[in-house]
Amino acid sequence: MMVLGIIGGTSLFGTKLLSDMDEHEVTTEYGAVYLLVTTVHAQEIVFVPRHGKDRNIPPHRINYKANMRVFKDLGVDEVISVTSVGSVKRTLPPRSLVVPHDYIGLFNILTYFDTEIVHVTPSLDEALRKRLIGAARSRDITIVERGVYFQTLSPRLETKAEINLIKDYADIVGMNMATEATLATELGLRYANISTVDNYAHGIVAEPLDYNDIVAAAAQSRADVEKVLMKVIEDMD
Ligand code: HPA
Repeated sequence: MMVLGIIGGTSLFGTKLLSDMDEHEVTTEYGAVYLLVTTVHAQEIVFVPRHGKDRNIPPHRINYKANMRVFKDLGVDEVISVTSVGSVKRTLPPRSLVVPHDYIGLFNILTYFDTEIVHVTPSLDEALRKRLIGAARSRDITIVERGVYFQTLSPRLETKAEINLIKDYADIVGMNMATEATLATELGLRYANISTVDNYAHGIVAEPLDYNDIVAAAAQSRADVEKVLMKVIEDMD
């Protein structure tokens, strides 16, 4: 049977989906990963909380290579990632959910191929994207079906000038997805993402940008994300 991988930020803790899971620490060749395992609707699920058991690993210290490798080691075929993003478009307000169709990740590109010449062609899995979109629609949850995710260097937020530079080429900005998607591609894992828009990126609107507001907004979208994930899992029967 297919095993579904889910990787998410802190907002997924506290969801019903994760309430009945077994905790594990699994060691990969790239390091140890804390994860949770459960079965929902007869579907086996491996959940990796991106920021660790204590939710305190900052984005620039996440062990991305271990996080993706552990899915592969545990027999996962496809990975749904949940990320928090800022919107660089006034027409895409906070509380929107986006299933990106592409991404820009020009910085700090990680690879598993340190000693061989391998050049993967990165992409997000179209079939998995469609399942996420279909699940949202069937639960009457508004979902933005396309979008370009721009990954910036973390942990700081962007300057107004940086957002101004990227806003004509992307829709949302975040700190994780491009790195994960590329590593997943290298491992042959199907990977797609659902992003919660938790703020307007710096300078897009007049109100000041504050990280605490971003965390509060992510928690508000949690119920919708959970419904979408549950429906995707139900549909896997
Ligand atoms: N920038 C980068 N990452 C983010 C943002 C942002 O505005 N909001 C949530 N994650």
